[in-house]
Amino acid sequence: MSSLPTHWSSGSTRIELVQGDITDQQVDAIVNAANSRLAGGGGVDGAIHRRGGPSIMAETRQKYPNGCPTGSAVISGAGDLAARYVIHAVGPVWHGGDRQEAELLASAYRRSLELAVQHGCQLVAFPSLSTGAYGYPVEAAARIALRTIRDFLTEHSKPALVRFVLFDAKTFQTFAEALRELI
Ligand code: APR
Repeated sequence: MSSLPTHWSSGSTRIELVQGDITDQQVDAIVNAANSRLAGGGGVDGAIHRRGGPSIMAETRQKYPNGCPTGSAVISGAGDLAARYVIHAVGPVWHGGDRQEAELLASAYRRSLELAVQHGCQLVAFPSLSTGAYGYPVEAAARIALRTIRDFLTEHSKPALVRFVLFDAKTFQTFAEALRELI
C-alpha cells in the first residue's frame, strides 16, 4: 500500500489523494456529490449541509430552482465550511454501464473544474462522485475521475491543486491503484 502513489503533478498543477472527511478541508471549493433536485441527502451531501449550515440550501433553492442535470454542476457559497464555494456536482446513478454513465461521470468532473476555474479557485477538493448511494463501481469510477481531471489540468494548467478526499480505506486504495495505472 505504501508503494502506491498518492500524487501526480505536471507543471504547476497537482492531483493529491488523501483519506478523510471532505468537510474538514480548507480549500477554495469543496465539491458535493449532489442529486439533480439539489434536495440534500446522506453521504457527502448530508455532511456538507450539516456542517455548512442552512445558507447553502437556501442559496441553491433560490438560484437553481430547477436543480441541476446529471453530468453537470452548479456553484454556491459554502456557509460555515472552511471554503469559499461548494460546487454541487451530479454524477450518474449506476445502471450497469449502458446508460452513458461513464460520459456523465466524466462530464460532472469536467463541469465542476470549469466552475472552479471561472470562480478563481486554485485549491479544489473532490469526493468520489457516484460511488456511494449511486452505486458506481469504484475501480471504473476512479479511472474516469483521475483521467478526466488529469486531462483538464494538462489542458488548462489550473486549478493548481485537485485533492481527492476519500472517506474509506478501500476507496482510497482503489484510487491510488488507478493513479498508478495513469502515471
Ligand atoms: N467526506 C468524503 N467522502 C465521503 C463523506 C465525507 N464526509 N461521506 C461519504 N463519503 C464518500 C462515500 O463513502 C463514497 O465513497 O463519498 C463517496 C460518494 O458517496 P455518496 O455521498 O453516497 O455520493 P453518490 O454516490 O454520488 O450519491 C449521491 O446520495 O447523499 C445522496 O443527495 C445525494 O442523492 C445523492 C446521492
